[in-house]
Amino acid sequence: MERRTLLGTLAAGTAGLALGAHTTKALAAASPQTNPLADYVARPFDFGAGLAGLSKDLLAEHLTLYKGYVGRTNSLLKDLLAAEKEGKKPAMVQELHRRLGFEFSGMRLHEWYFEGLSATAAKPTENHPLHQAIAATWGSFDLWWTAFKATCTMPGIGWAALVKDPTTGRLMNAWFQDHENAIPVGAQALLVVDVWEHAYVKDYGATGRGKYVDAIKPLIHWGAVEHRF
Ligand SMILES: [Fe+2]
Repeated sequence: MERRTLLGTLAAGTAGLALGAHTTKALAAASPQTNPLADYVARPFDFGAGLAGLSKDLLAEHLTLYKGYVGRTNSLLKDLLAAEKEGKKPAMVQELHRRLGFEFSGMRLHEWYFEGLSATAAKPTENHPLHQAIAATWGSFDLWWTAFKATCTMPGIGWAALVKDPTTGRLMNAWFQDHENAIPVGAQALLVVDVWEHAYVKDYGATGRGKYVDAIKPLIHWGAVEHRF
């Protein structure tokens, strides 16, 4: 999915679709590696002067957390492969599997989240097939957003996402518990919003998730989201 998204993005870039310097730079850094055993590298998300509604301190802390997921993913992949090759006890290998699902998904979801935020080029493209599909599914963009915000603010720690089932094209709002649970298998994430406490408590307090989601709305980089459709 990542590769497909990237290739689609690069192809559209040559067709003149404006993704913005922030997203273009970040996607370029996500180019498929020629060595599949190479370490993952934290992508260079740079929000410049910042994002309205999210403090620089919050963003800096969040990016540091993201880098932690990248580092732990690399460590776990090494440990898991070594344990498998060495025939370690099943309980040890199984725990590494469990941890890898958490850390890898945490890494990738943060990349899609940061990729989908921008201080510029945030407005939806009028008449884009994604928005036609949203209107056909929920009735209107505003009705979808109301439902999506409700997903964002449901109790729990995790992620809200707008996803597409590539086998039918059906759109769904989805909840990913933690990072790795309840994801509709095979669904393509179009838009993800981090609703762990670290994403908003510093700026909005423990009860401020709704205000945080309101702040996120005008920051959504629809150029990136539409490209995943
Ligand atoms: Fe996060």
